[in-house]
Amino acid sequence: MAEFYQFYPNVVALIGSRHGDKTNLMPAVWQTGVSKDPMIYVVSVSPKRFTHQLIKSSGVFSANFIDFKYLRTLVTLGSFSGRDRNKIKETGIELKPSKQLDVPVMKSAYAAFECSVQDIVSAGDHDLFIGKIVFIHESADIQPGSGTINCNTVKPILYLGNDMYVTLDPGSIVTIKRSRT
Ligand SMILES: Cc1cc2nc3c(=O)[nH]c(=O)nc-3n(C[C@H](O)[C@H](O)[C@H](O)COP(=O)(O)O)c2cc1C
Repeated sequence: MAEFYQFYPNVVALIGSRHGDKTNLMPAVWQTGVSKDPMIYVVSVSPKRFTHQLIKSSGVFSANFIDFKYLRTLVTLGSFSGRDRNKIKETGIELKPSKQLDVPVMKSAYAAFECSVQDIVSAGDHDLFIGKIVFIHESADIQPGSGTINCNTVKPILYLGNDMYVTLDPGSIVTIKRSRT
């Protein structure tokens, strides 16, 4: 059978985890919101990842969304495991205080969620971490409160597969209001 990555491009989030004296970040493209009320966010993490171990132990995680200009840092964070090396130190990433949960929140993120794990569902070779969003950090760049990023000031990182990345051209955005009958 053919590979199934035709659903790309998808935004990549940096999943933050912390347990004891270990703090870690890993890119995840298999992530999305699945419920509005309550706000539920799901990320699919392989049991091989150190992130998996940390989230399972702590029961909390963060999802950080960063600008395309930080793409190289994101790729570095996905190039080795935090199990034996301190990714935060090696990349020089700056964290800021979290608000509700003990999770790493990136200073440079244009948005970040603090999530508490409601359930872990096995899905083939990955596990789905179903997180209730308990706090949303938003930078001033992104039309705070609207839930929609401003693509003139922020460029999301989208993964295209096969180590290729792309961002949005604001000129390509089309708005079509639905007529609800
Ligand atoms: C763009 C990109 C997207 C990725 N998406 C996922 C994902 O959705 N789930 C996953 O388990 N691993 C994913 N990975 C792989 C992990 O990020 C990578 O194995 C990372 O080094 C694991 O780090 P850790 O062991 O410190 O948790 C992705 C990697 C990249 C570069």
